[in-house]
Order: sequence, then C-alpha cells, then structure tokens
Amino acid sequence: MDRVGIIGYGHMGSMLTNGFLASGTLSPDEVVVASRSQESRDACAAAWPGIGIAASNRELARRCRLIILAVRPQETRGVLDEIVSVMDGDEHIVSLAAGISLGDLEGLFTGSVTRVVPTVTSAVGQGTTLVCHGRQVGMHDALRVEGLFSSIGNVVPVDEMNLPAATLLSSCGPGLLAAIVEELAGAAARASGLPPDRALVLATEMVAATAAYLRETGEAPRDLVEEVATSGGVTEVGVKGLRERLPGVFDGTVAAMLERYGAVGK
Ligand SMILES: NC(=O)c1ccc[n+]([C@@H]2O[C@H](COP(=O)([O-])OP(=O)(O)OC[C@H]3O[C@@H](n4cnc5c(N)ncnc54)[C@H](OP(=O)(O)O)[C@@H]3O)[C@@H](O)[C@H]2O)c1
Repeated sequence: MDRVGIIGYGHMGSMLTNGFLASGTLSPDEVVVASRSQESRDACAAAWPGIGIAASNRELARRCRLIILAVRPQETRGVLDEIVSVMDGDEHIVSLAAGISLGDLEGLFTGSVTRVVPTVTSAVGQGTTLVCHGRQVGMHDALRVEGLFSSIGNVVPVDEMNLPAATLLSSCGPGLLAAIVEELAGAAARASGLPPDRALVLATEMVAATAAYLRETGEAPRDLVEEVATSGGVTEVGVKGLRERLPGVFDGTVAAMLERYGAVGK
C-alpha cells in the first residue's frame, strides 16, 4: 500500500495526523508515524487506533513512499541523512523545515522533494499551506501532496524565492496577529475600567469578525478603513496614529524576521 509517513509527532506532526485522519482524507492504516520519543509514539497510537507506528525513522522510510519530515529545521538534515540509505529513490520527501532549501534537500536525496509550510490555524481547517515543489516532482505527486494538504485549509503554490516573505504572512502571521490582539485589548483595559479578560474576548471576536467580513464581501482593507474611520470620528484618530507609526514598526519587524529566517537551520 502507498502509505504516508510522518516523522516527528510534535505540534505540526500531530496536527497533520489529526487533520488528514479527522477529515477522512486518509484512514489510519494509510498512515505511519515515527517520533524520537516513546511518549510521542504512544500518544499517537492512543489517539488513532489502527495507525502505523514505526519504531525508527528507517523503518518508516521502508514502509512509506510519501514521507513528511515534521521535525525542527536543525533536525531535518540529520533525519534525511539517516533514512536516505534505506530508500530506493522513488520516494517523495516533503519537508516542513523553514530555511532548508530545495537545493539543500536535493543535495541529500536525489529524488522528489517538496517544501510545505502549514500554519497553526490548519488545526481548525483555516489558513494557507504554502507549497513549493522541487524539479523532480511529477504532476501526480504534486497533486497528491496538494490534495492531502487541502484537507487542512487552502493550498497555495509559491516560488521558493518568495517562500520566506509568504511564510511570514501565512505561517508566522497568526503569532503576530495574536500579539497585536493582546496589545490592543491590554491598552483598552489599562485605559478604562474594562476587565482585561472581557477586553481580550471583545478584541478576539472583532478580529475574527473583521476577517470574515473582508473575506465574504471581498472588500479591500483600505475601503473598510474608509467606512469605519469617518471624518472627525474616533476611529479616524486611531487610524491616523497607526498609519504614522506602523510602516516603520512593520518594516523593522519584517526585516528582523527575514534575517532570522535566513539563520534557521544553518
Ligand atoms: N509550529 C508552527 O507553527 C510551524 C508552522 C510551519 C512550519 N513549521 C515547521 O514544522 C516543523 C516542526 O515544527 P513543530 O512546531 O511541530 O516542532 P516540535 O513541536 O518541536 O516537533 C518536532 C518533533 O520532532 C520530533 N523529533 C525530533 N528529532 C527527531 C528525530 N531524530 N527523529 C524523529 N523525530 C524527531 C520530536 O519528537 P519527540 O516529541 O518524540 O521527542 C518532536 O515531537 C519545523 O521544521 C518547523 O519549521 C512549524
């Protein structure tokens, strides 16, 4: 059987396993999981009765043709190096590691390699998984990977040169936005008698509703600003202040993140 292997049952590995199985895209007997610790392997076996558990990465590589590397960037080369000797070359390696290029992966494995960047929001079937296929990946394998990941949200193919910036938006973005929600709610609570937990609920609901509004109406953010920030009104004051300060803040934030991205996995 053409099984899907997932190496690393951490945040991403468990999320992918849950997503692929809960959506019915794969059944437990079509998935094999390997992870470094017995604890993670036991957790996976308990969550998904009937799933394949491999005692080692090599055992998984012998049993699967599509192999997803859901380990940290600094562990990715070591894991690929470990399994490459038991593979026969027609496997398809899918790496989640930020900062490990297709060229790096192809230097270790000469067959098909793809980079994918899911997002934490894929756990609720929302958000975008970025996909970037290597030169060896044929149409059938490309569609298989894209179909698999479409079970946990949108799939958007991206050129590798654009992957870092796209990753900041689609995958790091939830962390950035969550920090903004917290700061905005905190400021509103500090400046008033509004309890902090109430402020956080209001801010979180506002973000979810704004995203739904923009998505459903197709309206540009700029037009929504115009609608809400009426002349002489309260929102206008806030938007004006943000427009003055945010470009500098975000330019610095993006530059620092891109610099860090370049360092990951090296
Ligand atoms: N977190 C995100 O939002 C996000 C988004 C997009 C992409 N990514 C990428 O996804 C990858 C995984 O991130 P994560 O957040 O899931 O990390 P994580 O929670 O630390 O999980 C990594 C897992 O890898 C396992 N592992 C480590 N070394 C191993 C080895 N030699 N053999 C087998 N398993 C091994 C660990 O297993 P044990 O638990 O068994 O020790 C751990 O559970 C990274 O490359 C990251 O860049 C993450």
